[in-house]
Amino acid sequence: MAAAFITFEGIDGSGKSTQLRILASELRLRGHEVVTTREPGGTPLGTRVRDLVLDAEEQVDPLAELLLYAADRAQHVRKLVRPALESGRFVLSDRYADATVAYQGAGRGFPEELVAEVVALATGGLMPDLTLIFDLTVEESRRRAEQRSQKGDKQDRLDSEDAAFHTRVRDAYLRIAAAEPTRVHVIEAGGSVQETQSQVMKFVLPCIEARG
Ligand code: TMP
Repeated sequence: MAAAFITFEGIDGSGKSTQLRILASELRLRGHEVVTTREPGGTPLGTRVRDLVLDAEEQVDPLAELLLYAADRAQHVRKLVRPALESGRFVLSDRYADATVAYQGAGRGFPEELVAEVVALATGGLMPDLTLIFDLTVEESRRRAEQRSQKGDKQDRLDSEDAAFHTRVRDAYLRIAAAEPTRVHVIEAGGSVQETQSQVMKFVLPCIEARG
């Protein structure tokens, strides 16, 4: 059975990680082999990079940040994503290259061409077959982050950026979707888990069917 690479993107609190888990179960029920992973942190090396780059106590220089995400991705693509796709598995990744375009490009302000070069180097040209962007307002994202921190969840370094930063990230994701309408689809993530899940299936089913 042919494999597919599906990525989940969006600003924090968009519910993408929950949706990824639901989709993985759904695909397994249909008899597919599925690998779930994430960036940063999809490999043992990546887990260590994740701890460093998201450490709220660390003063990470923006260029160091860009390169750390790229290092995580280079390892992830070569050690996990490509081998899994080559063995016919579905790979579902919680974030991938579009996150660098949105967060380091639009969020931090690195030039588009530089970000594109770094992304191309790290991915070796591997782009997802399908990308779902879970969209919600920055206000709702903040509200959900607040709820999580009241429940005791730790905030990471990027969670504490201001609303203007998250607005630039959200707008960049929407621009990516507009520029690549075949690969990238926007899902309205402000509703219930079930409502969001039915939108996910609407985009994923044709992708599965195309692969037999
Ligand atoms: P997560 O909380 O969704 O796992 O994402 C971790 C954080 O890392 C999130 O704030 C977005 C950020 N990030 C980037 O800034 N650039 C990247 O390339 C990736 C993959 C994540």
